[in-house]
Amino acid sequence: MTKRNRPGKFAVPDLKALLGGMSPTRFFREYWHKKPLLIRNAVPNLDQVLDGDGLKELACREEAEGRLVRHVRDNWKVQFGPFTAAELAALPKKDWSLLVSGVNLLNSQGDALLNAFNFAPYARLDDLMVSYAPPGGGVGPHFDAYDVFLIQGLGRRRWEISGQDDLELIDDCPLRILKRFRVDQSWELEPGDMLYLPPQYAHNGVALTDCMTWSIGFRTPTAQEMATQFLVYLQDSICLDGVYADPDLSYSKHPGRIPDGMARGLKDMIQRIRWSDADMDEFIGRYLSEPKPHIFFDPPERPLGAAAFRRRLAAKGVRLDARTIMLYLGQAFFINGERLEAERAMAPLLRQLADRRCLPPGDHEEVFAGLLYDWYRSGFITFNTVATQV
Ligand code: SIN
Ligand code: CO
Repeated sequence: MTKRNRPGKFAVPDLKALLGGMSPTRFFREYWHKKPLLIRNAVPNLDQVLDGDGLKELACREEAEGRLVRHVRDNWKVQFGPFTAAELAALPKKDWSLLVSGVNLLNSQGDALLNAFNFAPYARLDDLMVSYAPPGGGVGPHFDAYDVFLIQGLGRRRWEISGQDDLELIDDCPLRILKRFRVDQSWELEPGDMLYLPPQYAHNGVALTDCMTWSIGFRTPTAQEMATQFLVYLQDSICLDGVYADPDLSYSKHPGRIPDGMARGLKDMIQRIRWSDADMDEFIGRYLSEPKPHIFFDPPERPLGAAAFRRRLAAKGVRLDARTIMLYLGQAFFINGERLEAERAMAPLLRQLADRRCLPPGDHEEVFAGLLYDWYRSGFITFNTVATQV
């Protein structure tokens, strides 16, 4: 029996194992956004975390983002969840694929796996999607706008990839399927193997046996999204004074016409809109730390009082809830879409919390403990389950 087939307990691999012994510096320099990379046995034993039945159960949950893709006689069909157990049990023996996004929010080991990729900034990490497919299943030849790590969790899958520039898609198809796909390279992935693909790299994964793929996806905001979201942000923060006035207005025989002077005056008002570098920083911090719109936090049902919270904080330490996004930019801290008004002295601890997503047991100043207490009551943080050494 080879090492890779020996069943074992899942443990999040350390960075060295994850990148097959390569340093993250070398990975970014030689592969990131540049070329594909296959790492054999990078993440073993994922089948111990979730199997096909486990994924089907997740796909039936109200809060899960599930999709079912079917390929029937050259036609692609997509159905969105939540699904019923009966619907999923009635599926045929081949040629479909069930995909669940945001598994990091539904499974704590999935969350730990996603965070193991924090050799890239959290602001770039998006989510963990897990798919299950019987033989023949897949989502067809396509490309993604973002970098992706595709990890084989269970069974075998053949991945075909292509560096083609031709990215034309089939018209009128519910899935983004390439019109033409010219295979450059292909591999059979076995449990634990991981394939990295740069953005826009064409790929097609076909299940050879019952098969599960874990995809680590990255955030890639579009220029259009940045511009429109910044304008939305600006609308709430802008403050211009003055009202339109036309003391020189004169009589016109064409009351339907907008006077030239009026158009000029209104344009002058619009051109008074200004924003600073600090405004853009503020927007970027808020935007990147904003959880997705379907995310809601669960405050504790019977929260501890402030004194009991501090005792537990000293004994256990705290960690960010899987849904919490905490980032910093320069001296400013952001949590779940809000900017933090924090004293400068708190910065080292806040940076530690944002970088490690947890704080070890310890006594803290009253103001800092008070801030953590507010976040605990909002469901943004929770206690470490084991005393964490950071
Ligand atoms: C899959 O899990 O089947 C699809 C993943 C991908 O191609 O990005
Ligand atoms: Co893809």
